[in-house]
Formats: sequence, structure tokens, C-alpha cells
Amino acid sequence: MEIRGATALVTGASGGIGAAIAEGLHRRGAALRLTGRNEAQLEAVAARTGGEVIICDLGDRDQLDELAAASHDCDILIANAGLPGSGPLLDFSPEEIDHALDVNLRAPIQLSRALGAEMAGRGRGHIIFISSLLGKIATPGSSLYSATKFGLRGFAAGLRADMAASGVGVGVVFPGFIRDAGMFHDSGTRLPSWVGTNTPDEVADAVCRAISDNRAETDVAPVMIRSTVWAAGAAPGLATRVIDRLGASSVSSQLARGQRDKR
Ligand SMILES: NC(=O)c1ccc[n+]([C@@H]2O[C@H](COP(=O)([O-])OP(=O)(O)OC[C@H]3O[C@@H](n4cnc5c(N)ncnc54)[C@H](OP(=O)(O)O)[C@@H]3O)[C@@H](O)[C@H]2O)c1
Repeated sequence: MEIRGATALVTGASGGIGAAIAEGLHRRGAALRLTGRNEAQLEAVAARTGGEVIICDLGDRDQLDELAAASHDCDILIANAGLPGSGPLLDFSPEEIDHALDVNLRAPIQLSRALGAEMAGRGRGHIIFISSLLGKIATPGSSLYSATKFGLRGFAAGLRADMAASGVGVGVVFPGFIRDAGMFHDSGTRLPSWVGTNTPDEVADAVCRAISDNRAETDVAPVMIRSTVWAAGAAPGLATRVIDRLGASSVSSQLARGQRDKR
């Protein structure tokens, strides 16, 4: 789909990756609707991109309905907003579990339903989900986050097939560890030296390519991490043991500590 001239709704546009995606779409000629809860951050992104700010807590069902109604004319949906949900499941309250499911999974599904119906009616549109490589491989402390990110992958694959005949494209982008900004960066986690990282701009470029070329799935990670994830698809049990040996538990406990305030 042609990005130039399209109108795109970017959820989580106040965050590290969402802001980069908004800027990438703006550079390629899209008009933007920028949503999140942090008004000051959204206004800062709007000042750089000319986007319109819509405040919405995706965990609030009424606010989500209002966002969907206000975005019915969008040609592109970037379902990027997410919370980290990191840590062992038993450390979460039932309310925190519901909140992670609502923000990371329910909201993208409901927005796809609402905006996708309008896109299909116009015979033109594109929906991109920002999952994670933890949507292809699970590690210690990733059960809740991985549930939502694996869920997005399955949802997107089925939706892509359902929407193919209507002129609406669907794709998923799977970032690895993203440096400089965003939830991994904010956590202050230190990685083992062999683990490489990528930038928010690389995620934004992948999103734009996924739209232009109608790619089903795009990983954004160094080849070493992508190979590990690929191997885990074939032998998940073995991969989990190998990853554990390589220091996954230390990374996941740092993430859980550093991301506790984002539950
Ligand atoms: N950073 C990484 O290394 C990495 C790796 C793989 C995948 N990802 C995925 O990339 C996406 C963006 O993450 P990020 O790294 O940019 O994290 P971030 O900087 O923490 O941004 C998260 C975004 O989600 C929004 N959000 C969270 N809860 C919300 C709620 N209840 N209602 C509305 N918006 C909400 C935040 O908006 P407000 O603060 O304004 O509410 C913020 O804009 C997420 O889906 C994440 O899972 C990130």
C-alpha cells in the first residue's frame, strides 16, 4: 500500500518505538493520529510530525470505543502500544494480568475490527501489529508478555487471510532488544556481550517496508538472535535450555525489576 497521502493511527505514539514509527510515516508522507495517555509526550511528537493527538487509555473500554469512532477514516492502523508484563506470573495480581491482556491484545483486536471494517468497505487499508521476538520464543519471566505477543502473531495470520480479498493488508513486526529509547532501554537492563540490539528507527523502517510490500512478518534483530528464534520454533524445549545457559534468567530478572512501574 502507498503510504504517501494515507492517514495512519499510531497507538503508543508517546513511547520510544511509537514516536520513531510516527516520524518514519510522516517522512514518507502520511497524515497522523497519535494516541497514548501521556499528553506532553504526544504533543512533542505532534510538533515534529504535524499529527493530531487523541488521548486514550487502551485499558478503558469506553475510551477505546471513542478512539475507534474517532479513527474510522484511517487507512493505516499501527497497533504498537504495549506494556512489558515482565516477571513470573505469580508476581502479578489478577488485575495486572487483565490490564496486560486488555492493552496488549484486546485493544489491537478491537481496533482491527472497528477500523478494518471501514478499510474493507473502502477496499484499501493496512494493519500492522508490533509484537516482539518474545512473540515467537518464550524465556523465563515472559509468560504473560509472550501470551499477548504470540497472540498477536496468531491473530494477524488469520486476519491477513480473512482480509486478503478486501484489499486490506496485515503484517506483524517482531523487534528484538531495542536500544536508545523504549521499554527495554528504560529498564536499564544489561545484556550479555553476544546479544546485539537495534534502534527504534530500524523498527520504523521495517514497519514502512511491511506496509509498502505487504509483508506478513518482519523480524528486527541481528542474525544471531533471529537464528536462535528460528531454532526455537523447531525445538522449543531445547532452545529454552540453551537460552537459559546463555544468561536469560539474569536478563529477565533485570527486566522484571526495571519494568515493574509499567505494569
Ligand atoms: N523496546 C523494545 O526493546 C521492544 C522489543 C520488542 C517489542 N516491543 C514492543 O514495541 C511496542 C512499543 O514499545 P516501546 O519500547 O516503545 O515502549 P514504551 O516506550 O514503554 O512505549 C509504550 C507505549 O505504549 C503506550 N501504552 C502503554 N499502556 C497504555 C495504555 N493503558 N493506554 C494507552 N497506551 C498505552 C504508552 O503510552 P502512554 O505512556 O502515553 O500511556 C507508550 O506510548 C510495544 O508493543 C512493545 O511490546 C518493544
